[in-house]
Amino acid sequence: MKKLDSITLPNLLPFVTALLILRVTFAVVLNYRDYLPPNFESDFLQDREQYFWKGYHWAFYTHLASGPMSLILGMILISDRFRLKFPKWHRGLGRIQAVNVLFLVAPSGLLMAYRAMTGPIAAVGFALLAITTAACMAMGWRTAVQRRFAEHRRWMQRCFVLLCSAVVVRVIGGLLTVIDYGPAWPYQAAAWGSWLVPLAVYEFSQRSVRRAGWLASPRAAEARQMHSSAGRALT
Ligand code: HEM
Repeated sequence: MKKLDSITLPNLLPFVTALLILRVTFAVVLNYRDYLPPNFESDFLQDREQYFWKGYHWAFYTHLASGPMSLILGMILISDRFRLKFPKWHRGLGRIQAVNVLFLVAPSGLLMAYRAMTGPIAAVGFALLAITTAACMAMGWRTAVQRRFAEHRRWMQRCFVLLCSAVVVRVIGGLLTVIDYGPAWPYQAAAWGSWLVPLAVYEFSQRSVRRAGWLASPRAAEARQMHSSAGRALT
């Protein structure tokens, strides 16, 4: 009974998010039947035959291999429990993830953005996503090497939030398919919203956490005391 009482929404959220990421990653990988060998009748590859073998295939297959791997590694690396229990594994897998994101996922996403299915607005959204993800990973790496671990943690959390845009964009795409919504604009908006909105939510929640932490700190208590004695002196 005591155990059931401890199940709260904030406790459940990471679990539900992990399940959603796994579910979407599984569905993505299941689609690879259409990519190996390429089926130019499939949703994603139709109308791409004229340029597919002229270089696009390099970015495409690199992305197919590195994308799901970055999500799975990201889920493991973001876990505090895993890091505290297996610090050596955290460091080893972290290095693999850094190389994977910096040299495979982001560059291949950037190259594929040029040929984005829903046109130039989506292309710019995906390209900026690729650059921002690589920048967060680079900062995360740098701060780890400099042993600035609180900052390292925040940069890597940002990077993971950005990688999860691959999940968000597919959930939005799935919903649009279910309601049979035809126009291209929501897909273009999703290329931006799928990472900008989660990133904004992350930054906002971090701000609230920092503010709550500061309010509970001895320095804040001191400031409150000074404020109230200044008020008393004026009356
Ligand atoms: C930096 C992050 C990422 C960027 C910039 C990016 C970019 C892109 C772009 C531009 C496309 C082609 C979209 C189009 O033509 O409309 C694409 C397709 C794809 N991406 Fe990513 N991506 C990223 C992360 C991921 C992740 C984490 C996964 C893991 C599931 C993933 C899996 C795929 C797959 C499988 C495709 C092929 C289409 C499909 O089967 O859905 N991507 N990505």
